[in-house]
Amino acid sequence: MNDAELIEAQIRSLIAQMTLAEKIGQMQQVNASSDHVPEYLRDELCAGRIGSVLNQVDVDIVNELQRIAVEDSRLGIPLLVGRDVIHGFKTVLPIPLGQAATWNPHAIAEGARLAAREAASTGVNWTFAPMLDISRDPRWGRIAESLGEDPYLAGKLGVAMVDGFQGDDMDDAGSIAACAKHFAGYGASESGRDYATTNIPENELRNVYLQPFHTAVDAGVASIMTSFSDLNGVPATANEFLLRQVLREEWTFDGFVVSDWDSIRQLSVHGLTANDKDSALEAVTAGVDLEMEGDAYRNHLVPLVEEGRLDMELVDKAVENILRSKFRLGLFDDPYTQPDALPAMADEPAMAVARMIALQSIVMLKNDQDVLPLSVDTLKSLAVIGPLADAAHQQLGTWVFDGDPAQSITGLKAIRELVGEDVDIRYQRVLETSRSKDKTQFEEAVGLATNSDVVIVFLGEEAILSGEAHSRADIGLPGAQVELVEKLRNTGKPVIAVILAGRPLTLSDVVDKVDAILFAWHPGTMGGPAIADLLFGVESPSGKLPVTFPRLVGQIPIYYNQKNTGKPPTPDTTVNIDDINARAPQTSLGMTCFHLDVAYTPLFAFGHGLSYTGFDYSNIRTSASEIRMGEALTISADLVNSGEIAAEEVVQLYVRDLVANVTRPVRELKGFTRVKIQPGQRVTVEFQLHTDELAFYGRNQKKMIEVGDFHVWIGGSSETMLRTEFRIVSKPCDGAV
Ligand code: BGC
Repeated sequence: MNDAELIEAQIRSLIAQMTLAEKIGQMQQVNASSDHVPEYLRDELCAGRIGSVLNQVDVDIVNELQRIAVEDSRLGIPLLVGRDVIHGFKTVLPIPLGQAATWNPHAIAEGARLAAREAASTGVNWTFAPMLDISRDPRWGRIAESLGEDPYLAGKLGVAMVDGFQGDDMDDAGSIAACAKHFAGYGASESGRDYATTNIPENELRNVYLQPFHTAVDAGVASIMTSFSDLNGVPATANEFLLRQVLREEWTFDGFVVSDWDSIRQLSVHGLTANDKDSALEAVTAGVDLEMEGDAYRNHLVPLVEEGRLDMELVDKAVENILRSKFRLGLFDDPYTQPDALPAMADEPAMAVARMIALQSIVMLKNDQDVLPLSVDTLKSLAVIGPLADAAHQQLGTWVFDGDPAQSITGLKAIRELVGEDVDIRYQRVLETSRSKDKTQFEEAVGLATNSDVVIVFLGEEAILSGEAHSRADIGLPGAQVELVEKLRNTGKPVIAVILAGRPLTLSDVVDKVDAILFAWHPGTMGGPAIADLLFGVESPSGKLPVTFPRLVGQIPIYYNQKNTGKPPTPDTTVNIDDINARAPQTSLGMTCFHLDVAYTPLFAFGHGLSYTGFDYSNIRTSASEIRMGEALTISADLVNSGEIAAEEVVQLYVRDLVANVTRPVRELKGFTRVKIQPGQRVTVEFQLHTDELAFYGRNQKKMIEVGDFHVWIGGSSETMLRTEFRIVSKPCDGAV
C-alpha cells in the first residue's frame, strides 16, 4: 500500500468506529481564544464533539487541547488548529496586495514559509490564507487581503503562498495547511460594500473569478473556505454548483471545505432558509465539511440524519475530507508542538525577508525630473511630514493578530538611521490621523518645508480603513491631506509623497502637486527601512501595480483585461465636459465607450511601476509565426538597462485572442518574470506559451482552445506597445477545433 492508500484505509477504519455524534464533532470548529481551557471545552473535547479550534496561539494551551483530544477522547483524533496568518505572523509582511506588487513568487513563498514557521511554533497547523478573491473594486476593504485584479497573477502568487505554507510536505516541522478563500465571487460585491450580493455570469465566473482557485487546487491546497456572499441568488455557503459540481466533480478536490465564520447560520439571514436546521441541511448538502464558529451543525445534523432528511453518506464524506487533511498534516503521528524545535520568531533572518518583500512591493508611480533618489551629497535638510511617517501600528495593515507594532521600524526612524548623521531631519506629524481636518499646524509645517531642501510627506489611510467590513465609498486621501499637499506644494520645494494604504486610492487631486510618489501599501514590520532605501537610492524601486488605479470612483470597475466592446474608445477620445456644446447633435462626441467627465484611461495602469534606471524594450519576436494545437511557442524580446545603476524589472507578457467563441479581453497576462540587469547590459527575455495556456471557457461553459490569430505584447506594464502576432492552426487531420 502506498502512503495515500494507507491514509484512505485508516480513514475508513476510523469512520467505521465513529458514532454519529463523533462524526458531527469532526465537522465542528470552535473559537478557543481564552487564556485557559474552559471546562465546557474540555468536556466537549473529551466527548469527541469538536474537531477543530481557532484563535489559540499559546503553545501550552494548544498542546493541552491536543492532549485532551488525543488522550482523553474515545478515538483520540487530533485537532486542526486554525488562525488567520494572512501576511506574516510575529514578523509582519506587507499586506497581500502589497506582496502581489512584487510579482515575485519566490519572495512570496519565502514570506509564507516564514509566517508558517512562526505560526507553527505556537501549535497552529492551519492558516486561513491565501485569499484569492479577484476584485475590480478598490472600495472593497478586503482588496487589501487579495492578490489583485488579475486571475493569472493571483493564481501564480497564490500557489507560491500555498507552497510556502504547506512546504514540500505538510507534515514537516514548520509547515501548516493553507486555505484558499473565499469561494467564490466575494470580491465582486456590489459597490464594494463588504458582504454585499454578487451577480456574476457563469462564463465570467469561470474565466475570471474561479481561475485562481482552480490553480490553487491543482497545486494541492489543503482546504477551501466558502464566501459569506450571495452568488447569483444562492449564497456561496449553500452553493452546490460551486462546492460539488465545480470543486469536487470538475476539479477533483480531495481536501476539505470550511464555512466562513457563522456563515451557515447566516443562510437564513440571507433568506435562503427558514431556520438553522434548514441551513445546516443546505450547507452539508452543498458540500461544506466543517462549520466555523457556529452551532448549526452541532445542534441539527444528528436529528437531520435520524429523521432521514440527511443521508449518512454525506456526513461520512465530509468527515473523510477532514480526517484526510489531519493525516496529511501528520497530526496522528505527533499532534504536539515543541516551539524550541523551530527558530525564534522575528529573528534577524525573518526581518531580512520582511524587508526584502517590502522593498520589492513598493511601486514608484511617478518621478518627475528624477527628483528621486535623494542624495546625501547635496541634501542638507529634509522635512518629514504627515500622519503616517511614524505610525508603527498603521504600517502593519489589516488582519494583524500576532504582530507587534513595537517591532515596526517606521519611515521616520529608518530615514534617521540611514541619513540622520548627514542630513538635518525635521519631523512634524501635522495631522493626528489621516482623517483629521484640523489645519492648525499647517502654518508651522509650511515653515518647516520652506526651510528644508526637500519635503517628504507620508500620506494615505490607516490600517483600520481597509480590511473586512471596512469598505469606503470615497477612496481619495481622507481628511485635510490634499490641502496639506497643496500648502507644501506652494513652498516651491520638491515634494515627495510616500503613500501607505490598503487599497488603490484615487490620487487625481494630488498627482500633479507632488514630484514623486512611492506607493508603499501597508508594508509591514520592515516597511520603514524599505522606504528609506528607495528614497536614498540604496535600491531601485521595482514593484508593479497588481491592480488598476482609477482616476475617480465613478470609473470603478476599471481593470486592464476588459472586453473591447463594439465601440471602443481611442486615444482621440478626449473631451472636456465644460466645452460640450449643449445644442450639439447626439453623435457629436464620436459614440464610443467612455465617460464625458473623465478620461477613459486609469490614472495608473495594471503592471505600471517606475525604476531609477531606464529599460528599453525592443525586437519582440516569436519562434514561429504559426503553431499547431498542442504545441508551444517561444516569445522573446530584448531589454537594455539604459541607465547607470543595476536594477530589477518585472517583464510582462500579454496576449489577445482576436476572435473567439466568446469575446475575450483586450489583453490578458500570460507570463511574467523579474530580472536583474546591470547598467548597459542587454538581456533577452523569453516566455514559453503552450496552446493549453490559451484555453478559456466558451459558450457551453466548457474549456476550449481555438485556432486563430493572437496578438502578443512584452513590456513593463499592461500599456506596453511592443507587439507581434502568431497563429494557432489545427493539427493535421484534426479539422477545426
Ligand atoms: C473572515 C475570514 C476569516 C475568518 C476567521 C471571517 O470573518 O471572513 O476570512 O478567516 O473570519 O477569522
